[in-house]
Order: sequence, then structure tokens, then C-alpha cells
Amino acid sequence: MSIITDDILSSEEKIKKIALSERKNKDCEFSKITVRPFKSKKGTVWQLEKFKDNKVFHENLSRDDFLMWLCETGEKNFRQISLTAEGVNIHYTVFPDKIKRKETANTVKKVEPKSHNKEKSYILKQGENIPALVDLGVFSKEFKVVNSKYDKYKQINRFIEIIDDSFNKMNKDEITILDFGCGKSYLTFIVYYYFTHIKKVKATVLGYDLKEDVVESCNKIAESYGYDGLKFYVNDVTKGELFEGEVDMVITLHACDIATDFALYHAISHKVKHIFSVPCCQHEICSSIKKGGDYDILLSHGLIKERFSALLTDSIRAEILRLCGYETDIIEFVDFAHSPKNLMLRCKLKKPLTPDLSSIEELMERYSFKQKLYELVVNN
Ligand SMILES: C[S@@+](CC[C@H](N)C(=O)[O-])C[C@H]1O[C@@H](n2cnc3c(N)ncnc32)[C@H](O)[C@@H]1O
Repeated sequence: MSIITDDILSSEEKIKKIALSERKNKDCEFSKITVRPFKSKKGTVWQLEKFKDNKVFHENLSRDDFLMWLCETGEKNFRQISLTAEGVNIHYTVFPDKIKRKETANTVKKVEPKSHNKEKSYILKQGENIPALVDLGVFSKEFKVVNSKYDKYKQINRFIEIIDDSFNKMNKDEITILDFGCGKSYLTFIVYYYFTHIKKVKATVLGYDLKEDVVESCNKIAESYGYDGLKFYVNDVTKGELFEGEVDMVITLHACDIATDFALYHAISHKVKHIFSVPCCQHEICSSIKKGGDYDILLSHGLIKERFSALLTDSIRAEILRLCGYETDIIEFVDFAHSPKNLMLRCKLKKPLTPDLSSIEELMERYSFKQKLYELVVNN
């Protein structure tokens, strides 16, 4: 135990936050850690929020485990530790042979956080045996989220929550879904699990990806679970033949660049009622756009040009979908910290329309860029 843990024990009820910064051990992978106590049914839990690059990882510890961690790991890895409690801030500088302590008064009032109920609101709860999450490495064998997969867990949960919101208004007992650029298919498996095990509806879920080995392994896993309605296909969605039957929902999660446009176009051309699409790697406009008008200032610096082009891409996609008869929102589907590619196009077909794309054409002409969804809609 140390002077810091003594302080924690003597002011435990009043502590609001503890922050560890200024990493001194090169082997420590986190640049900063903040710790907050919160009350749970099992007593006080100390939640560590660990920052690495632009990601955040969470770990919950009991008080004794947290104190042990602080002495054995926290004080070894960080030079600065600050404790904020009701009425007092204590700052510690950790030297190899001693800890310097400085106390100042504050006017902080500790508002007791509500019991930590984030877990409850997740549709895919920790502790549940969801085989796909275990086999894909998101859950440990004890059905706990693996730290390094926390972002994926959050993304999938959020995606399912958004689908759940729409599905509850659909009144369907059978559903067909296409997933474009499914990759390792965390989402695809879980979507299938959600419909068949949670909603108890008959589901056909088809995943498309370029990678043969990944598709083969996903099919094996699906077979091993007896997921008869879940199939994966090697398919370049920009060229390949896709399912031509009736589809209720098209989903994409980070399908690269124009693969997203082909997914959106498939939905438009097949009058698919629901689209949930989180785009990624929007390179097309960035590589063709040229200065030409009021927004030239956004094209002068590479980084800004890239971000502006990505936003322009998704704005044009959303506008085309609207003009084709979809009620379309762009929502932030997870916090930026969990994924910088965090915008989702959420669309519901109201009435198929023949779009007037002149406003988009005008923009394309002025700034000389290409956009695949526009081309697909115009040329087919
Ligand atoms: C970033 S990964 C996302 C995978 C998965 N949806 C996820 O979120 O975990 C993008 C995937 O899109 C696939 N992809 C890219 N272009 C494609 C295309 N033209 N046709 C099919 N799949 C494509 C890649 O092979 C890759 O697996």
C-alpha cells in the first residue's frame, strides 16, 4: 500500500475521479487512464477508462483489485496521479523512491452516479452465451467482453439497437437481409442471432465479401451452429450477381469505398424497404474533385480535402436516396472514440420515385468529381 491508496481508503465515499497521466514506462500501452467509482448491485465498482491511440478500453475492478492494480501497475507506469474528491484535489508526483503529495481545496460536490446501467440497455448482454461472439473473439469463454474487442462489441450492439428500433415497427415474422462487404462477419452472425434467437423470426441473411478464406470460414462456423438461413458468398459486389429475390433490409458496416454505393444501388433498384449503411474509405470523390467554386477553401489542404470529400460523398448518397423515395437520416451510430467512421445512413423507403438529380449534376460539373451511386442511378 502507498500514500495514494491510504488517501483513497480514507476518502473513498467522496472520490469523484482519479487520473493517471505522463506515462513513464515505455511498455505501458496506454497514454492515460482515468478511474471512476460507481455503485452497482454488487457494491462499488472502480471503472478504469484506458486511452490508447484514439481508442478507449474499459475495465471494471473491485475496490481491493483496484488498489492492488494502482500500487503494482498504476504507480509504476505513470508519473502524475491526481485525485478529485468532494472538497479536495490531491496531486501526486511519483518518483522512483518517493511520492510527492500536494493537496488543494475545491468546491466539487460529488453527485452520486446512477448505478451503472449501460450494460442493461445492451441487447447483446455480457454473461449471455452468444456463440458467435465467443468464436469471433469478442466474448471470452466466460462471456465477458475481451478488452481489445470492446469497440467492436459497442458497434455491433448499437447497430442491432438501431435495427431493433425499426424492426419493432415492421410487423414481420420473416425477414431477408443482405450484408455487403461482411468481412469476418461479426455483425452478420449477430444480426442472424438477433432475428432468430431474440426476435424468434425466420431469417435469411446473406453476406458478400471478396475474401475466399474468410467466406469459407464463416460458412463453416454458420454450419457448426446449425444456422441454416445464414450463408456467405465470395462476390465482388461491384460486378457479381447478387440475390434477386425479395429483400427487406440491406446492411453495410465499413464496406470499402464504392462497395457501399453498389449496396445502396442494389437496395434502390430492388425497392428494399430498409437500409442501414455505415460507409468507410470514401476515396472516389477525393481522387477526382477539383477546385471550382465557393468551397475551394476546403480543397486546399490534403487532410481537410479528404474529410470534406468523405462528408460530401455521404451527403450525396443521402440526397440520392431521398430523391429516390427514401426517408433518410444520417446518424452518429457510435461515439467518435469508438470508431472515427461513425456515420450511418438510415433509410426507409416511403415511395419509389424517379429522381431529379440536376442539383447533384450541377455540383459534380462545377467541382469535376465522380460519384458511383449517381452513375449507377443515372445509367441503369
Ligand atoms: C473494413 S472491412 C468490414 C468488414 C465487416 N463488415 C465489419 O465491419 O467487420 C471491409 C470489407 O469489405 C470487403 N469488400 C471491399 N470491397 C468489396 C467488394 N467490391 N465486394 C465485396 N466485398 C468487398 C473487404 O473484403 C472487407 O472484408
